[in-house]
Amino acid sequence: MLKEYLIPYITQDEISDMIDGLAREIESDYQGREVILICPLKGSTLFASDLMRKLDLPQKIDFVQLTSASLEGEPKDSTIKILKDISTNIAGKDVLIVEEIIDEGRTLSFLKNRLLASGPRSLKIVTLLDKPARRAINIRPDYIGRTIEDRFVVGYGMDDGEMGRNYKEIYFLKN
Ligand code: IMP
Ligand code: MG
Repeated sequence: MLKEYLIPYITQDEISDMIDGLAREIESDYQGREVILICPLKGSTLFASDLMRKLDLPQKIDFVQLTSASLEGEPKDSTIKILKDISTNIAGKDVLIVEEIIDEGRTLSFLKNRLLASGPRSLKIVTLLDKPARRAINIRPDYIGRTIEDRFVVGYGMDDGEMGRNYKEIYFLKN
């Protein structure tokens, strides 16, 4: 059982408070403007679904899936590819990437360049968790729920070998 290897880290209430704070910050910056939320699959699904319900702004959502180093058989330095692209026209729109965690920043940097090529009016990044100690590429989110130490976390959308995404709270892996 995966849970035997996990230590509780961030509770449901703490996650909920973090998202309330992020939603208020984003609302005050966008001032009623329509926002297009871009959710990279699969880890961001729980965060995106909670954030969109708390975010009092006109909004649309779309999903993108990129290959990542965590995929089986993908070497760490392999080029990132798009497995599923967005189908929304984001030209001239205010776009917000909704990430659950930023680690090395490679995936996000690739996604940011892909989206910028479509000519959005603005492009910002919100992340629930940020692990700046691990950053390999200089990329900074505009909104951060919580900055964490260099730990591998599981739950609330985040997986260990595709398991644990359904856990309501966030754990870290025992060494
Ligand atoms: P990056 O390109 O290294 O920033 O990787 C980003 C993606 O890797 C995140 O969006 C997550 O899907 C995954 N990831 C990074 N750190 C963790 C972690 O601690 N637990 C689970 N997934 C993670
Ligand atoms: Mg992700």
